[in-house]
Amino acid sequence: MTRDYRGTTALITGASSGLGAEYATQFAARGADVVLVARREDRLRELADRLARDHGVRATPIALDLTRPDAAVVLRRELDERGIRVQSLVNNAGFGMKGSFAQADAARIGEMVQVNVSALVAITREVLPEMVADGRGALIGVASTGAYQPCPNMAVYGATKAFVLSFTEALAYETRGWGWV
Ligand SMILES: NC(=O)c1ccc[n+]([C@@H]2O[C@H](COP(=O)([O-])OP(=O)(O)OC[C@H]3O[C@@H](n4cnc5c(N)ncnc54)[C@H](OP(=O)(O)O)[C@@H]3O)[C@@H](O)[C@H]2O)c1
Repeated sequence: MTRDYRGTTALITGASSGLGAEYATQFAARGADVVLVARREDRLRELADRLARDHGVRATPIALDLTRPDAAVVLRRELDERGIRVQSLVNNAGFGMKGSFAQADAARIGEMVQVNVSALVAITREVLPEMVADGRGALIGVASTGAYQPCPNMAVYGATKAFVLSFTEALAYETRGWGWV
C-alpha cells in the first residue's frame, strides 16, 4: 500500500484485532477515513480513538455480528445514517475450525460459511457500486494459503478461502476499465 487515500473512506471488517486492525491502521496512516466493523465494540472504539488521534482521520466503529443473515443490510443502514460513502473495502473478518468435518458442530460450520462467505458477498454487493462510481479505492479480500489447495481437517475453512480468492479475483477482472483499479 503506497497510495495516498486522503479524501476516501475504507471499510474494514474484522477490525477489532489482528490483520483487520493493521489494515485499518495502514489506511488511516495514508489519510483514509475508516469504518471499523466487528463484534467487540470496546476494541473498535479504542482503535478508532487511536487512529483519529494519531492520523486526524474520521474513524467510525460499527459493532455488528456478521453471522446475522441481515448483516449487510444492517451495515448499509448504519453507513447511510452516518452519511458515509465507501471507496475501499477490506473483506477481512473470518475464522476457521480444525477437525474432522463429520464430527464438527453443524451450527458453527454454518456460522463460518456465513461470516467467511455469505456476509462477505452481501457486503461487497452493497458497497461495490459506489466504489466503482467514485473510482479511487481498493477491494481487498483476505484469503489464506489454504485457498490454494484442499485442507483436510480444515475442509470448510479452506473452501471458504478458495471462494474468497476466486470471488475477489473475478471482481478485479469484472471491474477493470471501470475507471478504478
Ligand atoms: N493469522 C493468520 O495466520 C491467517 C492466515 C490466513 C488467513 N487469515 C485470515 O485473516 C483474517 C483475519 O484473521 P486474523 O488472523 O487477524 O484473526 P483475528 O485476530 O481472530 O481476527 C478476526 C477478526 O474477525 C472478526 N470476526 C470474527 N467473527 C466475526 C463475526 N461473527 N462478526 C463480525 N466480526 C467477526 C473478529 O472480530 P470480533 O471477534 O470482535 O467480532 C476479528 O476482528 C481472517 O479472515 C483469517 O481467516 C489469517
